[in-house]
Order: sequence, then structure tokens, then C-alpha cells
Amino acid sequence: MVDIDKYFKPDLKKARKRSQTEAEILSFEMDDRAKKLGIGKKYKIQTYGCQGNEADSETMAGILENMGYVATQDELEADVILLNTCAIRENAENRIWGELGRLKPLKRRNPDLLLGLCGCMAQEEKVVNRILEKYDQVDLVFGTHNLHKLQEYILFAYFNKERVIEVYSEEGNIVENLPKSRFNGYKAFVNIMFGCDEFCTYCIVPYTRGKERSRAKEDIIKEVTDLYNEGYQEVTLLGQNVNAYGKDRNNGEYTLGDLLVELDKVGIPRIRFTTSHPHDLDQKTIDAFKNCKSVMPHLHLPVQSGSNSVLKKMNRHYTKEMYLEVINRLKIAVPDIALTTDIIVGFPTESNEDFLETLDLVKQVDFEGAYTFIFSKRAGTPAAKFEDNIPEEEKKNRLQALNKVVNEGYARASKKYADKVVKVLVDGTSKADDNTLAGYSEHNKLVNFKGDKSLIGKIVDVKITETRTWFLIGEACE
Ligand code: SAH
Ligand code: SF4
Ligand code: F3S
Repeated sequence: MVDIDKYFKPDLKKARKRSQTEAEILSFEMDDRAKKLGIGKKYKIQTYGCQGNEADSETMAGILENMGYVATQDELEADVILLNTCAIRENAENRIWGELGRLKPLKRRNPDLLLGLCGCMAQEEKVVNRILEKYDQVDLVFGTHNLHKLQEYILFAYFNKERVIEVYSEEGNIVENLPKSRFNGYKAFVNIMFGCDEFCTYCIVPYTRGKERSRAKEDIIKEVTDLYNEGYQEVTLLGQNVNAYGKDRNNGEYTLGDLLVELDKVGIPRIRFTTSHPHDLDQKTIDAFKNCKSVMPHLHLPVQSGSNSVLKKMNRHYTKEMYLEVINRLKIAVPDIALTTDIIVGFPTESNEDFLETLDLVKQVDFEGAYTFIFSKRAGTPAAKFEDNIPEEEKKNRLQALNKVVNEGYARASKKYADKVVKVLVDGTSKADDNTLAGYSEHNKLVNFKGDKSLIGKIVDVKITETRTWFLIGEACE
């Protein structure tokens, strides 16, 4: 009845394949038979990993709501629970195995409960094999390329009372007209491209997300225009390597910089984009920071390491000097730009001298923040076969030393905003105190201030009165 192959398992080797053909653009259609299946039922989605996964969860929520399901945060009353997983590091995966074990008793309470695993972990054959062997509580396994078929999987599982495992290991296509149930009413994620062709040697993403493929600019502009008309104040353009946007379409002439110029005309107050790769960041994009009012003065530009020999082994396609040159051009265009980054320590063969190069780079750039990680071996990636010659203790020491320098950067950055008036898009109330509002400044700094809840969703001028390492405190300007 439903066109699925219920035991279609992933294959990381196949997922490596890249061809020159342009990705096909498909249009989502809701299966009529699934439309009423969720009436009177509830769903819960647990999202792990990056903003790409957040955006996928919003799509799955949209599909489920079109079927009649209603969202719940209470797992005890959920009829469908989906774990949208991340495979980037081993500890991300370990959390999921623990969670599957914890959720198992719920199946005994409610035999009709459907428990699903999707996202990047589903793209790994070792994960699917382990589920088949040991986790019979899991009813649905589907990957990043086929979440638009969620309604078919639920239909199949309900009527056939069988588990469904369907994961494609393909280059990927693009599905438009997907329903979305957005989790935030003022800030939205907008995918501009999917996949990654960089193949950094440590990284699983090119295998779990397929090849780089850009959405048509018309579809993106329409989505952002619709969001603006609905009252959204901010969009974050998403892709694993947004600087490669457009390279796979129309001879690659229309790139991220061009898209930013056109989106700036839509009128939405704030545009951000993530994640950028240093070697693809072109002058058109740098100029957009300067010339487009809505492009916010913050860039997350992962560097990974400051050592040229490590960068080479990581297959990053740039040197420390090239990275610093890009930073220099950014600072010339926008002198007060806020820069943040990602760094991996303990990559195979990283010597103490290599690590000192990283510390030196962090100091030179003066980052306002960074996500720091210890290298994690991902099966199927080239670096998994590199000799891991650094003792665990040493990796931890390096992470600690790096975090000390990074945290000094956070504190220094906060001090820069003392006594300044910053524009804050108010997200809601602060976690610690219901009378305090919290939101982000244009430079992406968290700001807390006293104010009325009616300001939520608005952009407010706030005078900074106190600075802390991780956030700023201020007063709303009259
Ligand atoms: N596409 C983005 C982010 C990908 S994942 C980019 O290229 O920047 C986010 C971060 O996780 C990466 O920037 C990297 O610092 C880290 N990461 C990826 N694979 C890792 C691994 N195997 N071990 C440790 N950290 C990893
Ligand atoms: Fe992974 Fe590198 Fe692609 Fe980022 S650019 S997703 S780190 S392969
Ligand atoms: Fe994780 Fe997949 Fe994102 S591995 S970081 S959820 S692309």
C-alpha cells in the first residue's frame, strides 16, 4: 500500500558518492490517507545536534500537525516520540542509546506508542544494525533524506504493526513546500542549502547529509518574505557550508553575497547565516556585512586549529595565515564585527607546538566566543584510521588551557559593550527570573533587562549597565 522498503539500511560508502548532476527539486504532497490519522493523538520530538536538526524537527512537527497530531512535552501522554539525533561526536550518540533505554518502559504502558529514531545517527549502518539487534522498542528508523515521508512510515507502522527502517544513502535532492510548525514566533531558521562536500577528515556530516545542494533563490526569497509578512524579526539562513551556496546551480554565478543583497530588500530587520567555511568566504559576502542593513555584525567562522600541519591533515583547504587574512578583511569591512569559532583539540598527531599555534591564533583574532571540542573518532571517516597518539590526559589539559583563553575572550568582549546602547530582540523571560527579559543583541550577545512581557518579540534599545562573562545586564531606554 505504501511505497516503502521497510528494511532499507544505510551505507556510509555509498553516501560518499558525488556526481556533477544538479539536485532534483521535488514538491511535498501529503498522503490523503494519513491526513486524519493523528486526530486525538499527541506527539513529542526531542531534538539533538545542530540548527539543521532543529529546522528538520520543525518540518516533522509540521507534517505531524497536518495529520491531526498535537504537540506535547509530556512523554507519558505522547502517541509518537521521535528522537532527531546527532552523530557528530561519540558522546552525542551515547546520550541517545541511554535515552532509548529510558523510554523502553513507555512502550509497555502504551503498546500503541510509536518510537522513532531519525536524523544523522540513522544514516550510520552501525547504528541501524545495533537497533535491529538490541532495541526492539524502536518502531521507525528513517534518515535525513526521507523525513518528508514521515506520514507514510506512520501509516505503515499503524496498519502493518511492523517496524520500518528506511534510510537512503544518496547524494540527496531538495523537497519544497514542506509544512513547518515553527518553534519560535519571531526568529526563524531558513535552509538555503543542504549537505556538505568539504569532507573534513574528522567529520561525519558529508556522509549523513549528502552532497551540497542549494535551494533556488526564488524559493528562499519567498520564504523570507512570507516570514516577514507574518511578523518575524529575524531569520538565520542555514547550511553546513553556506558559503558554498549557489555553486551547484546556474554556473555558480549567484552566491551567498548576492542572496544577502536581495534578502536585505525584503525588509526583515535581522539576517544571520551559519555555518561558514573560511575557504569559501568571498568578498561579496564580506561586503554584504557592510552594505546590507539587515545582515547582523556577527560571524561564526570555525577555524578548527591554528596549526598548518593539522589543518592540512583535517583537509580544511586553508592555512593559519589565510584564515587571518580573511579575518583582516572582515575587520576592515566591519571594524566592530563579533567573531566566534569552533576548535578541535587532540586531533591525531597534534603536537604541543601545534596546539600553541592554536592558542596564538585565538589570541590574535580576539574571538568573542568559541565552541571547543576534543577530537572524537567517527567510524567511516578518514581520521578514524589516523593513529591517535595523544594521551587522554593531555587532550583534557589542552582543552582546559584553550577554554581559559576562550573565556577571557568572552569576558573582554562583554566589557566592550559597557555603557553602550544595544538593540535587543526580546526572546522571552530569563530562565532565572520571570520579571527579567532576555534576548540577543545585534552582535549576538545575550542581554538581560527588566521590562514588561509585552516587549517579547520586539527589538528594544537597551543601555548596558553591567557586564558578566557570558551575558550583559541593562535597562530599557525610554
Ligand atoms: N559545518 C559546520 C559545523 C559542523 S559540526 C562547519 O564546518 O563548521 C560543528 C563542529 O563540530 C565543527 O565545527 C567541529 O569543530 C566539531 N566537530 C565535527 N566533527 C568532530 C569530531 N569528529 N570530533 C570533534 N569535534 C568535531
Ligand atoms: Fe563537517 Fe567540514 Fe562539512 Fe563542516 S565543512 S560539515 S566540519 S565536513
Ligand atoms: Fe549533528 Fe548531523 Fe548536525 S551530525 S551537527 S545533527 S548535521
